Amino acid sequence: MSTQKMHIDSYERNWMLVSAILLVLFATAVSVAAFGLGIQVPAPEQRVDPRTVATDPNSPWSNPGLREIAPGKYDAYVLARAVPNWEYLPKEMSIPAGSSVSFYVTSSDVQHGFKIQNTNANFMVIPGQVSKLTIKFDEPGTYNFICTEYCGSGHGVMYGAITVTP
Ligand code: CUA
Repeated sequence: MSTQKMHIDSYERNWMLVSAILLVLFATAVSVAAFGLGIQVPAPEQRVDPRTVATDPNSPWSNPGLREIAPGKYDAYVLARAVPNWEYLPKEMSIPAGSSVSFYVTSSDVQHGFKIQNTNANFMVIPGQVSKLTIKFDEPGTYNFICTEYCGSGHGVMYGAITVTP
């Protein structure tokens, strides 16, 4: 048997090389972003029953709000709902500067969004799922949050605020 060599045009070979280099660059960029810079997609935290999540006494969303779990560390249970009047519960939260807050957000009816101004928090709120993201608030001020998924006629009034005190 004779050894066969495939003929590849030099232009084609060069473009194949460029494509291979690009793939390595992209894989490196994604790895650096995920493991070096900590940029991650919010993952579904847990599943809940949207019909009972706001009323079941064992559900933290039956009593939404902030819980201080350690000095400067908080869990925030936030309920987004279109019924009866398009709102977040709670609508307002206050924490001292330097606090780290883990948001656990769910919906008792339709799909909503949760975007906090001047932070990288911006995620979907899906009935039946809990979205979780931890944000550290170093700068005092007011951080408004709004609904970013169209959820009905009251979508535009669906907002709230986090006050970070010095
Ligand atoms: Cu809730 Cu738009």
